Amino acid sequence: MNVPQLTPALHGRFSPLRFDPHHRLSGSDVETLLEAARWAPSAGNAQPWSFHLRRRGEDGHEHLVAHLAGSSRRWAPAASALVVNLAHHEVDDSGMLYSEFADYDLGQAVAHMTVQAHAMGLSCRQFRAFDLEGLHALLGVRPGWRILTMTAIGVPLRDDGTPPPRERRSIVDLRTAGVSSP
Ligand SMILES: Cc1cc2nc3c(=O)[nH]c(=O)nc-3n(C[C@H](O)[C@H](O)[C@H](O)COP(=O)(O)O)c2cc1C
Repeated sequence: MNVPQLTPALHGRFSPLRFDPHHRLSGSDVETLLEAARWAPSAGNAQPWSFHLRRRGEDGHEHLVAHLAGSSRRWAPAASALVVNLAHHEVDDSGMLYSEFADYDLGQAVAHMTVQAHAMGLSCRQFRAFDLEGLHALLGVRPGWRILTMTAIGVPLRDDGTPPPRERRSIVDLRTAGVSSP
């Protein structure tokens, strides 16, 4: 990626597949990352999100690792923390919508956490490769809430000091792909 006019927090961000297995997140690092998510915008300020975070070595971390899929088990356990990202869809089990924008808002809160992590010299990889049903049962997810994704947070290991190449669709495609009458 070579777009130097982007803010460094976006320019340098990438999702690593290798984390430093010795790095440890401090309690205040965790607070700062959660604050970043907390201050994300949301529809009607509903804040329809929750984050179950366990640092490597902390009680409960091993249970999260046990629910990783084969692919993520190769790299996510080495991250300094694993976060389960949950969205609040319905009011308890009433069938009444809590927020129409729960997934959208959760994604935005995770993005805030990701950018904050980058500013702290950390990196995040969001992922879906885990046992969704098993994790719901393990954590006793409340009625109306849903697990969407997990995030691995830590210090990336880079073989040669440069981030891996990142691919994106073109700006033209971005502007036209979603509508038939541009
Ligand atoms: C909702 C979501 C789900 C993802 N699921 C996985 C996954 O299951 N496994 C994985 O290795 N990466 C996963 N990723 C990471 C993406 O593959 C990665 O963000 C994408 O390739 C772009 O790379 P970059 O973040 O370095 O720019 C996921 C990302 C998002 C946002």
